[in-house]
Amino acid sequence: MADLTTSYLGLQLENPVIISSSRLTDQLKGLQKSAAAGAGAVVLKSIFEEQIEYDSRSMIKGMDDFSSHADAYDFLANSSKDYYIDRYLDLVEKAKAALGIPVIASVNCVSQGAWLDYADRFQEVGADALEINMFIVPSQTAISGANIEQQYIDLLRKILAKVSIPVAVKLGYHFSGMANFMKQLDELGVRGLVLFNRYYRPDIDIEKIAMKAGDIVSVEQEASLSLQWTALLSGQLGCDICANTGIHTGDAVIKHLLAGASAVEICSAIMKFGYGTITDMKKTLSDWMSRKGFDTLDDFRGLLSKSNTDSPEVWERTQYIKAVTGIS
Ligand SMILES: Cc1cc2nc3c(=O)[nH]c(=O)nc-3n(C[C@H](O)[C@H](O)[C@H](O)COP(=O)(O)O)c2cc1C
Repeated sequence: MADLTTSYLGLQLENPVIISSSRLTDQLKGLQKSAAAGAGAVVLKSIFEEQIEYDSRSMIKGMDDFSSHADAYDFLANSSKDYYIDRYLDLVEKAKAALGIPVIASVNCVSQGAWLDYADRFQEVGADALEINMFIVPSQTAISGANIEQQYIDLLRKILAKVSIPVAVKLGYHFSGMANFMKQLDELGVRGLVLFNRYYRPDIDIEKIAMKAGDIVSVEQEASLSLQWTALLSGQLGCDICANTGIHTGDAVIKHLLAGASAVEICSAIMKFGYGTITDMKKTLSDWMSRKGFDTLDDFRGLLSKSNTDSPEVWERTQYIKAVTGIS
């Protein structure tokens, strides 16, 4: 088998296939299945800042007279918060002890709330890195793109000041000046960008005339977005890019490495096809490398990124013009 090792966030991974944050990674049993199937690393299910806030609020909702119950109020608010945090830290610690592969903790946050107080505890219990899943829905007409980007940067600056383990940011693609924004994150000290998160997709049931949830799992075609942006940005950023969404096959892993990714994160493929997907991806990658005469991932990583290809325009608009007009 070819050498599939890769460096991501300064961590040495046996191979570039990482199991992304999801219900596959919320319990030790699932994490052990991923490790046994040969994953390069795992990202634990995110702890959500809302989860903590909501639970605190729900427990103290009935206490309308806080002045006479101040101690109890404080106790409930804090013990509720600690319950989730302690459970999460326990999972990080157990995963680290049991798996033998890098364990990346994950926080889903949008504000500089209470969770920042415990950001450094992830590293204390052994997390190798922290992935921040952040999404401010740009749905308010009064708030500019620059304002939203600044919110990301302010929060990430605080996180980076608080933790010493590498920090990756998992992003969506709702940024107008995407390359510039990602460069700003790179310069801030973020060690990796996970491109892109796949958000909840609301849908409408026309018979019931009601809202419904869209598919929670991705389809293969969705990978074209991460492929394009990995290729566009990989040569321009110092930090690593980890591709995500729609990566279902070994071929897709190879394409993202050729575009310049350090690693890929997968989740839907395992939910659809089982843990054997990890073995299949590694075998496809290894066989392809042997066929093409590559010994290591660095022999071909980024070969087709925008900065390395002779035809950088294929990653941008001209390809579209060519497709619709036939002009070559
Ligand atoms: C059931 C489910 C739960 C998820 N939970 C999280 C989560 O807690 N945090 C997170 O960052 N991403 C979460 N995700 C998103 C995945 O990590 C991943 O980004 C997304 O599914 C796209 O990758 P894929 O196409 O390989 O599935 C979840 C996805 C699914 C399907």
